[in-house]
Amino acid sequence: MKKGLFKKIIGTVLASTFLFTLVSCGGEANKGASADGEKAKSKVQEIKDKGVLTLGTSANYPPYEFHKNIDGKDTIIGFDIEIAKEIAKELGVKLEITDMKFESLVASLQTGTVDMVIAGMNPTEERQKSVDFSNIYYTAEHGIIILNKDKDKYTNKDSLKGKTVGAQKGTIQEGLAKEQISDVKFKGLNTVSDLIMDMRVGNVDAVVCELPVAEYNLKKNNDLHVITDTGFKVDEAEKGSAIAMPKGSGDLVDLVNKVIKKLADEGKIDKFIVEANELIN
Ligand code: ARG
Repeated sequence: MKKGLFKKIIGTVLASTFLFTLVSCGGEANKGASADGEKAKSKVQEIKDKGVLTLGTSANYPPYEFHKNIDGKDTIIGFDIEIAKEIAKELGVKLEITDMKFESLVASLQTGTVDMVIAGMNPTEERQKSVDFSNIYYTAEHGIIILNKDKDKYTNKDSLKGKTVGAQKGTIQEGLAKEQISDVKFKGLNTVSDLIMDMRVGNVDAVVCELPVAEYNLKKNNDLHVITDTGFKVDEAEKGSAIAMPKGSGDLVDLVNKVIKKLADEGKIDKFIVEANELIN
């Protein structure tokens, strides 16, 4: 009698465990079949199925990304674009680039307008709340562009106290200028080249951007000077550029990291940077 009851209990426990397993399997299977579940399952498959990787960038940031007339055709080039091409190659799809304002890039991932953003973007904590980031593929310092004639007057961020300092809208440089230069008058525009033009007509005293961009502009224009010892305090993590993808991009992030690692190991990223700098307009 006692033994019989024990058997019965064991039997019930086993049966319910079995049932539970069945239910949870069914749950998983259902989740996999739903639209959302599939999206979470394979972003890579989704891109392969449509045959195109849509890329958002802001092509005004040489040598990262910029426009150049190549064989009579306006083309977006730069070392970021070379990395994007390698990602498209790995996916076996074609690359379609959408050029937009830098400040619209994160939103374009959230609305699903593009699959990926590569734009010399720093994976800040704030942005990480809205998008996924790859590992860092490149690290840069900051520079301050000024007019040659001002080079004795302005020597670092502190000498710009109370001056009009410009940066591209929506960038971390906007934050640096506003937060680390006392009494600054901030001027935000959509491109560094517009800010340089504004500086030439006397509306802006200095422009903050990443050092490679400052140096590129210096090579192109002989009326400019670049301050390299800026005095800005920048979070180590915020010096690096990473590729942004919509939240929940799972396997796409893994694939992108794999490509970045391969390119870095082969010295290809450095090669792309040298080549982009040689393509000076
Ligand atoms: N690294 C800076 C940031 O993430 C500026 C990048 C600007 N990039 C561009 N393509 N215009 O805020």
